[in-house]
Amino acid sequence: MARITTTSLKDKKLKKEKISMLTAYDYSLASMVDAAGIDMILVGDSLGNVVLGYENTLSVTMDDMIHHTKAVVRGTKNAMVVGDMPFLSYHVSIKEAVRNAGRFIQEAGAQSVKLEGGVERVDTIKAILDAQIPVVGHIGLTPQSVNQFGGFKVQGKDLETAQKIIQDAKALETAGVFSIVLEGVPTKLAKRITEEITVPTIGIGAGQYCDGQVLVINDMLGMFTGHIPKFVKKFANLQPLIMEALKQYKEEVEAGTFPAEEHGFTIQDEVLDRLY
Ligand code: KIV
Repeated sequence: MARITTTSLKDKKLKKEKISMLTAYDYSLASMVDAAGIDMILVGDSLGNVVLGYENTLSVTMDDMIHHTKAVVRGTKNAMVVGDMPFLSYHVSIKEAVRNAGRFIQEAGAQSVKLEGGVERVDTIKAILDAQIPVVGHIGLTPQSVNQFGGFKVQGKDLETAQKIIQDAKALETAGVFSIVLEGVPTKLAKRITEEITVPTIGIGAGQYCDGQVLVINDMLGMFTGHIPKFVKKFANLQPLIMEALKQYKEEVEAGTFPAEEHGFTIQDEVLDRLY
């Protein structure tokens, strides 16, 4: 199977086939996500919350992102890998934004980048596209704007903000992004946007009518012990299983029942006998 491309994703929208996307941050999980046939892997800056233990995504750096994107790329053959541009990596200047987007491609081996924002990011996105780097847009509840929003609140519930999100989606489409993440917006608004633009929409907390869906892998596998948003479905509940295994390991180490004979390596007695 060939790697998923921007063209194959656009084709999926035309054929009304849904797009699957998950986050991953390391080699082991990325290999599994890839083997499961998920179309896109986002090395999200949610890395900050679920892997690095920060309160939000604002502390995540380009170097953090490159380190984890490299690991994810090593674990994938088929999925399109999207590197998530962290806070301040594309806000200071367009030149810096292009350079940072380029690091995801050149240093880490990703196939595309994602950045948050609508109309106000169009010039930056165009410059990144000029460098031949495919871009995923991200609008609605954009977590890097948490302080401006005054918390993680659903966006687009009133006329003014709903209108702004539609304008953002259209501006990103015109700028040339190949897909748009719609996060934390009402289902019917996401449906309307999905119907009105030609690029695939990928929803998270945006209902069932988007062209695709994305979730944070630690949330959907039930591995994250912090706050889990209402829109997350736990497709597995690994946390109790992991806790059970860890407790059993501790008990067996303390009881001396692990390791057992079969977990050790042999040495011939004659070698032992000749030791001095
Ligand atoms: O960082 C992330 O995981 C994301 C998704 C929530 C879309 O941006």
